[in-house]
Amino acid sequence: MTQKNMDRSRKQMEDSLDFTSQYAEQAMKKRHDSGIPVGHFMANGASKDIHEHPDNPELVRCVFRRGDAPETKEDIEGRYLLTKLLHLLYPEQIPDMTAYSVPEHILEEYWIDVQRIHIDESRRDEIKNSLPERHVIINSLDELGVGLDTGNHGNFAFDTAGKLWYVDSIDPWGNRGLAELKRNYNPQALLDRIQTLPETEKSSAIKYVNRLEDLFKIEADKK
Ligand SMILES: Nc1ncnc2c1ncn2[C@@H]1O[C@H](COP(=O)(O)OP(=O)(O)OP(=O)(O)O)[C@@H](O)[C@H]1O
Ligand SMILES: [Mg+2]
Repeated sequence: MTQKNMDRSRKQMEDSLDFTSQYAEQAMKKRHDSGIPVGHFMANGASKDIHEHPDNPELVRCVFRRGDAPETKEDIEGRYLLTKLLHLLYPEQIPDMTAYSVPEHILEEYWIDVQRIHIDESRRDEIKNSLPERHVIINSLDELGVGLDTGNHGNFAFDTAGKLWYVDSIDPWGNRGLAELKRNYNPQALLDRIQTLPETEKSSAIKYVNRLEDLFKIEADKK
């Protein structure tokens, strides 16, 4: 690398660090204003900011921004329940969720607490070439009628033990804006798969499916 290129790449790195720290500062201010307790800012994506959990190092707190089509409280609970259920079925690919907030107003930020994955940052670039590994996860969930957001490679990450995870929450239903709301899961396929779980997990898993179905009906009736 020439001296000029080295100077340029150092400048780019400094600019991006500067941008991240400015963003982090703004994110902390927003959380302060909205009264959401968080730890340090960690990362951001198109729909959320990821913070350390205020008191549990095993978790991250994902704070969701509100866009043009904000989620209802049924949508939020549905997102939480479907992801939590899929974690029971795929505990080494889908991180667990432990709690979520119910905002009073639809435009208020809300948060979901998620199992913290210790991401191997040095392997980030490998993700786009790891199609076979990603397909193992994508196909397994496809069998349950669940579609993942595969457009963003950042939704997959290797942890420091070398395991590949899908590090995003899972939409419970889709086709917002269209005439008919569609489930992003097949209830019967889920119930069949739940039969393979240990007895201790089966009853909560079945409750999650039943509650998801109730929430889906509430949302579908709004159409
Ligand atoms: N459970 C987790 N543990 C540790 N880090 C996480 C976890 N979930 C997300 N992250 C981090 O947050 C980053 C941002 O996520 P991502 O880009 O998917 O945000 P997003 O808002 O979902 O955007 P998009 O809608 O484009 O997927 C991830 O690349 C990852 O580094
Ligand atoms: Mg994402």
